[in-house]
Amino acid sequence: MYILGIWDGHDAGACIVENGEIKVAINEERLSRKKLDIGFPNNSIKACLDYMKIRPRDINVIATCGTQLTRILARQFSFLDQNFYKFRRRLIQKPRFEKFNRFVKYWLARYNITSLKKFTEYQLQKKLKKIGFENPKIYVVDHHLAHAASAIFTSGFEKSLCITLDGVGDGLSGTVNIFENGEIKRISEMKEKDSIGLFYEIVTTILGFRELEDEGKVMAMADYSYPIPDEENMLLNFFEVEGLKIKAKHSTIKRFQELEKIKWRTPSERFAYMAQKTLEKHVLQLFKNAIEQTGIKKVCWAGGVASNIKLNRVIRLESGLEDWFVFPQMGDGGLAVGAALYVSHMLEGIKPKRINDVYFGLDFSDEIIESELKKEDKIEFRKINNPEIVATDLLNKGNYVFWFQGRMEYGPRALGNRSILAPADSEEVKDFLNLMVKKREWFQPFCPSILEEDSNKIFEDYDGKPDRFMTMGYMLKRDLKKKYAPVSNVDGSVRPQMVGKENEIYRKLLEEIKKVKGIGIVLNTSFNIHGEPIVCSPRDAISTMIRTKTKYMILGNYLVTLR
Ligand SMILES: [Fe+2]
Repeated sequence: MYILGIWDGHDAGACIVENGEIKVAINEERLSRKKLDIGFPNNSIKACLDYMKIRPRDINVIATCGTQLTRILARQFSFLDQNFYKFRRRLIQKPRFEKFNRFVKYWLARYNITSLKKFTEYQLQKKLKKIGFENPKIYVVDHHLAHAASAIFTSGFEKSLCITLDGVGDGLSGTVNIFENGEIKRISEMKEKDSIGLFYEIVTTILGFRELEDEGKVMAMADYSYPIPDEENMLLNFFEVEGLKIKAKHSTIKRFQELEKIKWRTPSERFAYMAQKTLEKHVLQLFKNAIEQTGIKKVCWAGGVASNIKLNRVIRLESGLEDWFVFPQMGDGGLAVGAALYVSHMLEGIKPKRINDVYFGLDFSDEIIESELKKEDKIEFRKINNPEIVATDLLNKGNYVFWFQGRMEYGPRALGNRSILAPADSEEVKDFLNLMVKKREWFQPFCPSILEEDSNKIFEDYDGKPDRFMTMGYMLKRDLKKKYAPVSNVDGSVRPQMVGKENEIYRKLLEEIKKVKGIGIVLNTSFNIHGEPIVCSPRDAISTMIRTKTKYMILGNYLVTLR
């Protein structure tokens, strides 16, 4: 049975699940080239069908989510989505009634109207009809249930504790669930008012960054503060944890106002530090309570909050869990897959199966790549036999390289198929990459890819459970902090991709590096200019190469150089 998963909100996208297996999954931004695109995922649906070589009538059922009032309104009046998108990404002047707009949005977001499921289906049917679907069966899955299903069914845990935390989705900001005997049982839910995700989002906004996009910058900035003791952290008492619930002291609007007041007299990095510690303290307590109360120590989690790798590290080390899994597309961009997996579970009774990789996107043949290369006269290219050896050679000479292979990754991280690679131990190359190529803020760190078997050589807290997806934080061994500073946060924490056998050519590249450097490690950052989506097609890659004046790119089996 083909199940088409779709999500038409923030970071829209589509996927096709067959017998519980994710066959293809793409987010709209990669195709529309609008970062974290919002709205109906026409392009992704078409790309998924084309990839599978099927037509709309071959789709048995459609799975989606979103009965929140704001989503229903945005579906009806698509300009609302587009206005919000421009506002959120700060692509327009600050609106005159910015605060008022924001508060109306917070106020509306708390309303979830499940009785309008039929209306939601009607809205979607109308949009699907335009792209060739004729009255397909639609299942509307609850937002947090979709987040939970995404983690549960890809974790491989037969029995698990699953926690979801985000800004707000279908009126909720978090849930605690048990998966046992093939059933997901929700044992706690947290309202919009109590959202610790929204708290972090607001901190991001107040610091002058883009909410729902730049939360990672807040986490990185926090490292530049001196440690602030708990007694002096004015944000800690914004929340408390009671059993399986995080409870907020203020309403969302009051919280916004209080945070603004505190920020007014607090330097940015200290404010970021206080927010990060607040998040860590309360979420850790929630996890501890849930593990203690249920006695289940295999824990998986998803939702936007799960993208915070420093928090994830604290959970891994201090919550008392024994095994863990974070769904790699943890934010709302993963809802299409979550909804589809849930429906597959409901209709076909699928069981959890650990995913080995997330190369669920599009790939391009040599013919397509060559024809795209021929269209561009600013570059030269030649076919090569061993892309990994050519790349390693360039890296060993101190170059950075654009690296494009096989199927695109699903989720926010480049995992060696749409990556920019550089030596892991060169501060000079790192700075050049950050400022001149990626055009990021100076304090944003880079991350490495490392051979799975070398992980215990450089991390002091590796638990023997390789993280293939860059979802977890680790700490460098003390004596290696200086050497690997280009691929770590200033405190020595790292978000690595540990490479096993799931990506053969990338593995070979790391093995080549190991021959010279002793450790199979490389700086790996996503193949894009900051603020743009990761490249999807050869054309996107070539355009990025030219705009960044990059000397070397390995595009499939071709070495491309700038003329
Ligand atoms: Fe969400």
